[in-house]
Amino acid sequence: MKVSGKDYRTIWMDGRSVYMIDQNLLPFEFKIFRSDDYLTSCRAIREMTVRGAGAIGAAAGFAMAQAFQMASPGSVKSFVDKAFQEIISTRPTARNLFYAVERVFKAGTRHTTKALMEAQAVADEDADASRKIGRLGNRLIKDGSRIETHCNAGWLAFVDYGTALSPVYTAQEEGKTVFVWVDETRPRSQGARLTAWELRNQGIPHKIIPDNAGAWIMKKGMVDLMIVGADRIAANGDVANKIGTLEKAIAAREFGIPFYVAAPTSTFDLTCGSGDEIVIEERSQDEVLYTHGISKNGKQDTILTCSPGSEAFNPAFDVTPAPYITSIITEKGIIRPNSKEINKILKP
Ligand code: MRU
Repeated sequence: MKVSGKDYRTIWMDGRSVYMIDQNLLPFEFKIFRSDDYLTSCRAIREMTVRGAGAIGAAAGFAMAQAFQMASPGSVKSFVDKAFQEIISTRPTARNLFYAVERVFKAGTRHTTKALMEAQAVADEDADASRKIGRLGNRLIKDGSRIETHCNAGWLAFVDYGTALSPVYTAQEEGKTVFVWVDETRPRSQGARLTAWELRNQGIPHKIIPDNAGAWIMKKGMVDLMIVGADRIAANGDVANKIGTLEKAIAAREFGIPFYVAAPTSTFDLTCGSGDEIVIEERSQDEVLYTHGISKNGKQDTILTCSPGSEAFNPAFDVTPAPYITSIITEKGIIRPNSKEINKILKP
């Protein structure tokens, strides 16, 4: 996608370095972060310099390729085995991270150049799948549709285009008028900070709403459909996504609003029979207790916004059971969230 007229991917590799848009600085600053070794790439994933299922998948694949490049000839196996473990322990929930590292690791055992090629292929396939999701998902969007989304499943969360927002971008390209309700998505505010930044950058009309406004605007008839992304999809169609997704899905069903999940097939995990088996990441309580922003005089700061001394609980994802989901938009087609349709689409 373009930023100030220049084409960017969220993340890319050049030589031994991995470059990524620093998402912790957005929307206040647009800066590229450079990682020259796999441990720095791991830190970037853990600290969410790069985030979003597809983007951390690409980052993890590139990190694995960096590890192969860094290994000295005498100790390749022990070095890359250790790196593999370190990379997969950066974040637990997004399936794409494991999918990418496993692919690159396997390719690298044949030759280091194969690891690099595979990491690049993972990133290119992610961008391609996102583009296709946009074209298919666009069919669900009518001229004048008002779409609600949660968190950021736009191009920043993938290598390019995004998933939940890709259909919106295609609809705009095709000349449809669309409007997006952006859930702020506490505690890290990926909606208010990143989705809103993307939509503004693309000139798409939108408004940020407090997380607790979703049910009310649905009841008032102000939402035509909801599209969210996914971090992992179980074999039965249960979907793990950013915390707060479940309550939106419940409200959508109550008010008869179609609730779509957009995700590439690399996000499905058939080893998880149901959402109960998906590991839900718990992050630092500081993300709940403190807020980072910019003051009216332009100074960035982190401030405490809760009762001093109180503790917080911070689960980063929740699981929406399949019956709440209208359909899943994948690059291979729009399917019902059940094991039969999932198995059919995942067949090679
Ligand atoms: O914790 P994050 O920001 O990496 O969360 C992942 C996500 O971006 C969301 O859950 C998103 O809605 C689906 S993945 C693009």
